[in-house]
Amino acid sequence: MPLLAEDRAILTARRTLSICVVAAEIAAAESIGENLERLGYPVFATQSPAQALERIRDGQHRVALVEMNLGETSGMEFLERALEIDPGVYVILMGAASPLELAVDAIKRGAYDFLEYPVNWAHLERTLERLGEEFGRRAHIRDLEDRLLSHLEFHGIVGRSPAIIEVFERVQKIARHFTNVLVVGPTGSGKELVAWALHKLSPVASQRFAVCNCSALVDTLLESQLFGHVRGAFTGATDTRPGLFEYANGGTVFLDEIGEMSLGMQSKLLRVIENREIQRVGSPEVRKVDVRLVAATNRDLRAEVMAGRFREDLFYRLSTLEVRVPSLVERIEDIPLLVQFFLKKYNQAYGKNVRGLTRRAQAVLLRYHWPGNVRELENVVSSACLTAESSFMDIADLPPHLQKPHPAALDLDDTWRPVPIEEVKRQHISRVLEFCAGNRVRAAQILGIGRTSLYRYFKREARLKAKQPKSA
Ligand SMILES: Nc1ncnc2c1ncn2[C@@H]1O[C@H](COP(=O)(O)OP(=O)(O)OP(=O)(O)O)[C@@H](O)[C@H]1O
Ligand SMILES: [Mg+2]
Repeated sequence: MPLLAEDRAILTARRTLSICVVAAEIAAAESIGENLERLGYPVFATQSPAQALERIRDGQHRVALVEMNLGETSGMEFLERALEIDPGVYVILMGAASPLELAVDAIKRGAYDFLEYPVNWAHLERTLERLGEEFGRRAHIRDLEDRLLSHLEFHGIVGRSPAIIEVFERVQKIARHFTNVLVVGPTGSGKELVAWALHKLSPVASQRFAVCNCSALVDTLLESQLFGHVRGAFTGATDTRPGLFEYANGGTVFLDEIGEMSLGMQSKLLRVIENREIQRVGSPEVRKVDVRLVAATNRDLRAEVMAGRFREDLFYRLSTLEVRVPSLVERIEDIPLLVQFFLKKYNQAYGKNVRGLTRRAQAVLLRYHWPGNVRELENVVSSACLTAESSFMDIADLPPHLQKPHPAALDLDDTWRPVPIEEVKRQHISRVLEFCAGNRVRAAQILGIGRTSLYRYFKREARLKAKQPKSA
């Protein structure tokens, strides 16, 4: 009789679920194996727990069907070792139905199911069927996420959080029209990618994009790098060379770390911005250049202006159009997607096939405060991908400082005092506001309250403050 399409689908699903049967008696293991093979599952039967674990380590099995009583090793010990080796493996333990606590304990410790032994075939088949469905669902979700990833990439910038989508929209809007843009954001947040996207979406996308890191060079070198020099302009200037502004004429110049530029260089840059003219070092000749300028910094330039370290006029020239790239903690929703993106990259680079993170490792990443932002996350994924021995990266593959509890959580405990609930509220709101650099809309989003409620709260606080007697 020909197979129905549905049956064929079931058989195909079963063929992907390779099972390792481990029983104290080899004859028992083989007999279970033969029955399962008849149902369409690929099976390996053994009486050696060590051999089974070795095969799990090699990634040969998604499922282990294990008798509780294995002689020297207990099923529980096997479970623990198997999950250590591959947190993604499904272990089904088989043993005496009582006491019930044993089964509950097994599930708590991560077993997929606990079935009676000798085998009750109806139960075993149902469990494997359910597992097959879950496995298929997961594979399907991974496949969908993979496809989704290609839609959630904006010129190399990956993200789906409202905060990063705002950036995409702003870049899209600005790119066609800008002459000068300032990109601000903490280190490793993706400012260079944003600068590149601004260029790629601009009308001069086919022209050059020249990058200069302003913090890497002393003034004299920076000046000649940007504006060029003529032969003999300074010791070592053995030839005449155009600078980046001339090189990128018609295209875009990206000045990274603009906040590190000296005041002297800032005034030279201001002239270029105002007149679109440059002078090569050592030459009186003034040359016209037609470039778009993207500048980036992780410093608070307003504060730098206040401190007298940054020219106010240059700041206003640069910041008429500003793109703020949010820190990673402001968009933790992006972490799973970024992990997947980097995993793809490093799987390819290292020739590995790591498929994801265990749930507990993912929880660790979501709780961490990411001072180095996306760059730090990329480094974590790259090294975890390299060290992971199973198909899922686990906590042990993360750097030690991530494995420790979050310091912020400890701080809270250390500074705990018995205070009224209103005081806790006040402190919390002010910390969140500080975290959002004073952005009340974002603060309200994080606090999970309406914007108007937050405004009302501030009004009430201000009224209360005004009523308080002034201290001498
Ligand atoms: N949203 C993102 N999607 C994919 N990769 C990202 C994203 N954001 C940052 N990266 C990657 O993280 C690394 C750091 O990004 P980038 O160099 O753009 O940061 P930055 O803000 O310029 O940092 P810095 O202030 O230290 O110069 C790069 O390897 C970049 O490719
Ligand atoms: Mg950078």
